[in-house]
Amino acid sequence: MKTYLVTGGAGFIGSNYIHYMFRKYNNSIRILNVDALTYAGNPENLKDVENRENYSFIHADIRDKDAISKIFRENEIDRVVHFAAESHVDRSIKNPEIFVETNVLGTLVMLNCAKDAWELPDGSFKEGKKFLHVSTDEVYGSLDNLTDYFYETTPYDPHSPYSASKASSDFLVKAYIDTYHFPANITNCSNNYGPYQFPEKLIPLIINNALQGKELPVYGDGKNVRDWLYVEDHAKGIDMVQELGRPGETYNIGGHNEKQNIEIIHIILDTLREMLSDDDPRKALVSDDLIRFVTDRKGHDRRYAIAPDKIKAEIGWEPETMFAEGIKKTIQWYFEHEDWMRNVTSGDYQKYYEEMYK
Ligand code: NAD
Ligand code: TYD
Repeated sequence: MKTYLVTGGAGFIGSNYIHYMFRKYNNSIRILNVDALTYAGNPENLKDVENRENYSFIHADIRDKDAISKIFRENEIDRVVHFAAESHVDRSIKNPEIFVETNVLGTLVMLNCAKDAWELPDGSFKEGKKFLHVSTDEVYGSLDNLTDYFYETTPYDPHSPYSASKASSDFLVKAYIDTYHFPANITNCSNNYGPYQFPEKLIPLIINNALQGKELPVYGDGKNVRDWLYVEDHAKGIDMVQELGRPGETYNIGGHNEKQNIEIIHIILDTLREMLSDDDPRKALVSDDLIRFVTDRKGHDRRYAIAPDKIKAEIGWEPETMFAEGIKKTIQWYFEHEDWMRNVTSGDYQKYYEEMYK
């Protein structure tokens, strides 16, 4: 039975990944989830797995060397899947320090602790150990025309403090691969959407505001392009790269689903109108008149677009969920989890929202 150490498993992608892994492997794996439970980490995301015998939650910070090395000492870890990070670009513009501390220094702690636990006296590594670093396409910077794509060979050119911190963490992983032959892979994925996404990010923020008849803030001209992937497809890609990827390689994950932000907002509004019944009072609130063009994000990257050729050719991964289906599933999930949304938007979220959108 393999033991997985997942970092940041109480966040959006991490919790979806844990659900995916238990659906796929059931009782044949064990997962230890280490999470500091920042504003983005929510134990409710894992309520339906928390009583499993093959799941444990460890409340710890990846910057805490002692806590992380203790986990490696007390458990024979076979796989590390490293999600934990500060993940929101707007927050990184307001407060870059925590992004460097968590994303760069926290990743260094994870690498060092895994290396200490897995390295043999001759400098090689114990058989079968694997570390997967979950990263983003934002490290490649911004595409200015509609014909270019991000390949694994595209030079790094990060612009926001968030993407710069993720790029730095990727470089550290690459340095461990090159210097020590550390058994790691990196995945650089495009924008995810799906259940459990915190409503600071575009899609859940628009769903939540539209259902309450609140303004829908669109940065700049709304024509920035993102390449959207349903989160379960990302989870599957991570697992496939970890099992089938060549040691030390980077794989881009994305599904050729590029859309302008304004298009996304119109799709959400149309889908909400289609899915809400006529006698649901929220239906009357959902309106195109809620759209507000607001001051652009500083340094706003124009377009991201992944070329997933390598992962398809080498590993056979392809996205399974088309956007029209994925957005319906996502909206349905938010319909069925109103309490979840109410809980995460009470308290600190209100303060964040007022400061960010004043
Ligand atoms: P998230 O913000 O929803 O979750 C991050 C999780 O990490 C939270 O549970 C939080 O409590 C935890 N965490 C933060 N700091 C920690 C620390 N110091 N120690 C331990 N845990 C800590 O993020 P997400 O959207 O799920 O993203 C997960 C990973 O995937 C990140 O590394 C991100 O860069 C990457 N990624 C995200 C996207 C996307 O569209 N969201 C796309 C590509 C890559
Ligand atoms: P976001 O979900 O924050 O992801 P990222 O910045 O990592 O791509 O934003 C997606 C796009 O939506 C991005 O171009 C910024 C834009 N956006 C808005 O127009 N309004 C908003 O309120 C938010 C949060 C994002």
